Amino acid sequence: MSNYLNIALPKGRLGEKVYAMFAQAGFDCAEILSGSRKLIFENEETKVRYFWAKPTDVPIYVERGAADIGVAGKDILLEYDPDVYELMDLNVGICRMCVAAPKGYHEDTQRTLRVATKFPHIAENFYKAKSRDIDIIKLNGSIEIAPILNLSDVIVDIVETGTTLKENNLEVVETIIPISARLIANKSGFKFKDEKIAALLQSLNEILTKEQEK
Ligand code: PRP
Repeated sequence: MSNYLNIALPKGRLGEKVYAMFAQAGFDCAEILSGSRKLIFENEETKVRYFWAKPTDVPIYVERGAADIGVAGKDILLEYDPDVYELMDLNVGICRMCVAAPKGYHEDTQRTLRVATKFPHIAENFYKAKSRDIDIIKLNGSIEIAPILNLSDVIVDIVETGTTLKENNLEVVETIIPISARLIANKSGFKFKDEKIAALLQSLNEILTKEQEK
């Protein structure tokens, strides 16, 4: 494993976008585009090893050193607070963490607020800062149906285009924080493989600067 740079990417559209950036930065691994169901890919020449992980698991691989670096949404980093270095904002996967509710919703501040979310830690911190009593209802997906079925009053969830909210008659009440994908690194791997990681960072910075100039 040692002389390879091990990179954990989030499986899915965001991971594919990020891989394209890494390939452009000189860390390509052609086999990854083969469309197979393999999850680990190596390029002997560039000495990189990529693997696809479930997005919420990427920080676990990086924190424990199974991956030297990885890419995770800021939402996941805020929720799980892994002990990793956050090296760079990749300016992709842009969305926002929001409180949303059925259109026309009026909050009864005398009552405990029922909050459905996949992100209990983020929601707790947000309402703690407002000294608001809440009851967290932890769900694993399709959060938008919770207030419709009166399981909750509001939701705390990711909003990207806003289509899911709109099509379910919900609206944003408040934005908690903007979100984007971040490059993260294992704390000791960063010391041992800093040259390779520094080269990647520099190339990615150049790519992002060019993008912004467009
Ligand atoms: C995310 C999020 C919203 C939706 C927002 O869901 O939880 O449901 O995307 O996107 P939009 O604003 O562009 O409509 P995801 O696809 O991750 O599925 P899940 O949360 O239901 O598992």
